[in-house]
Amino acid sequence: MNDMNIMIINGPNLDMLGMRQPEIYGKEDYDDLCYKIDEWAGDLDISVDVRQSNYEGEIVEFLHEAFEDDFDGVIINPAAYTHYSYAIRDALLILNVPVVEVHLTDITQRDEFRRHSVISDICAKTIMGKGFEGYKEALEFFFDLL
Ligand code: DQA
Repeated sequence: MNDMNIMIINGPNLDMLGMRQPEIYGKEDYDDLCYKIDEWAGDLDISVDVRQSNYEGEIVEFLHEAFEDDFDGVIINPAAYTHYSYAIRDALLILNVPVVEVHLTDITQRDEFRRHSVISDICAKTIMGKGFEGYKEALEFFFDLL
């Protein structure tokens, strides 16, 4: 183990993957995503703590925990909160470790309101439009920091 500990946070409605607009988000469900993340993290020898919440305040509290418990980085898909949550942005600004933003879809190619992310400018990297593989790329970002 290289002792790297990354918190992965998924926002609202991502627990409904597989059922939620499969033509956009795919047929694989949230458990499939968690399984893949565990496998990729295992291959890279990175410890992950994968969480999901449908509540903005709970995501803010996850980020406080990431700060207090000295996580080495955060991978976050804030889902719809991406586009308007200053509370999540402010919580990310508390961290002094890299944050990677992930979106399953390419948010620049969808509805107008999805084009802007209120967190991209404070993230070390943004990965979008690569489906579940985006989380793999985010883990590789942290692996490359080692
Ligand atoms: C999303 C894109 C957001 O616009 C949307 O609200 C989501 C998922 C994505 O992963 O592509 O819930 O973050």
